[in-house]
Amino acid sequence: MQEKYIDETKQGEAFAIAERPENGKKLFLESYGCQMNFSDSEIVASILNEQGYNTTLKQEEADLILLNTCSIREKAEQTVRMRLAQFKNLKKEKPNLTVGVLGCMAERLKTKFLEEEQLVDLVVGPDAYRDLPNLLKETDDGRDAINVILSKEETYADINPVRLGGNGVTAFVTITRGCDNMCTFCVVPFTRGRERSRDPHSIIEECLDLWNNGYKEITLLGQNVDSYLWYGGGPKKDFAKATEMQKLTAVNFAQLMEMVATAVPNMRIRFSTSNPQDMSLDVFRVMAKHNNICKYVHLPVQSGSDRILDLMNRQHTRQEYLDLIRKAKEIVPDISFSQDMIVGFCTETEEDHQDTLSLMREVEYDYGYMFAYSERPGTPAHKKMEDDIPADVKQRRLAEVIALQGELSKKRMASYVGRVHEILIEGVSKKNKNQWKGRNSQNAVCVFDMLEGQKIGDLVSVFVHGNTQGTLLGETVL
Ligand code: SAH
Ligand code: F3S
Repeated sequence: MQEKYIDETKQGEAFAIAERPENGKKLFLESYGCQMNFSDSEIVASILNEQGYNTTLKQEEADLILLNTCSIREKAEQTVRMRLAQFKNLKKEKPNLTVGVLGCMAERLKTKFLEEEQLVDLVVGPDAYRDLPNLLKETDDGRDAINVILSKEETYADINPVRLGGNGVTAFVTITRGCDNMCTFCVVPFTRGRERSRDPHSIIEECLDLWNNGYKEITLLGQNVDSYLWYGGGPKKDFAKATEMQKLTAVNFAQLMEMVATAVPNMRIRFSTSNPQDMSLDVFRVMAKHNNICKYVHLPVQSGSDRILDLMNRQHTRQEYLDLIRKAKEIVPDISFSQDMIVGFCTETEEDHQDTLSLMREVEYDYGYMFAYSERPGTPAHKKMEDDIPADVKQRRLAEVIALQGELSKKRMASYVGRVHEILIEGVSKKNKNQWKGRNSQNAVCVFDMLEGQKIGDLVSVFVHGNTQGTLLGETVL
């Protein structure tokens, strides 16, 4: 999913998993939004697999349709509403069909969903998936069902997710849930609740299990992974109240990475997402020490202007961010970075916008995910600031940052040419059936001719001889 610009309308993906022959019911499950939603859908499928549901890719076959939804921007919500409307006829034909909404929109809109969308029978927030079997009993009895209670503890640590529709090579492992950062534009703290970390034992267990099942790359996942702190349970906010023993034996993100890198020494390890304010240099030191940790960090900054960063409640300045990048490059010389950027945030001037462009030039990101600010109801920005940048200005600034990122990506891709890279084969190239596609440690996509004996999941040495804006072109080193 390395698009330069995430277009929510293109998301939504239905999955099929290994069937249980004894299961008689069919679930059609579609996910929108961030990687965490895709990972959560694997937990949901696992829970429902125990309840007699096999998944299907055909909506007409389904007894239960679930959409795992995203609230991050208005467009993401519109996409889900439009998708729901498409199930109207199906529901008329099949009165017993249950339609449910999961995830962030469920959490944000709660009962409003049941009122506004007559079609919806079931509304379940991100911390309530264990309750699905009970909720489905209610809908079976013809009642609407809802659970949007947020938890301070839930990490689904003991649920073994079924791997949905993947390539059998790369997988997500969730390590934290929720977010306490309160960036003023962001709805996530409201839809996903307080930040909590998952027991490191269960994380290591899942990683070992994935390795034993043939997986070759994992991405440790959280809204803010660098803030990971396990001390024996409870939300991070309550760490001050932990016992002395809990404090002494607490595990932070750098330590967790070290544990994972050692436990599965031949597994490639990535992580996402990092917030600059929570990133310690120890994380970079662990990256430098372990070959199997990929030399790539997604490090969203949102803006290059100190004034805007402050209004966004990002807890660092432009200079602090640049210092962090500089130090990271010193510790991990071949490191690469990608960004998230928001243009047109409240009161953003042309000067602020120029600061964003100059920051991008200074860092030279490999990739970027760029967005026009979308006001979200209930967020601090919505309550206290005015969404005052006209849509056409937002779009023009967005086009400018996208164009600049295109140039930077091209330059970065060119810098990989003329060298040998370790590429993990993830699948067949979409454009050419005789070529593999995979990524190098820095997360750059590479395509190269297939050779006999090579297969998906192999880590191969590839000489890169050329590039396009977003892709490396290479050939296997014999
Ligand atoms: N820490 C999270 C960030 C979630 S949101 C993670 O795991 O990725 C992903 C990105 O969406 C943010 O970094 C930000 O660039 C963008 N975003 C969030 N709220 C937004 C809003 N209201 N309008 C536009 N873009 C937004
Ligand atoms: Fe959102 Fe900021 Fe957390 S972007 S997910 S509040 S780190």
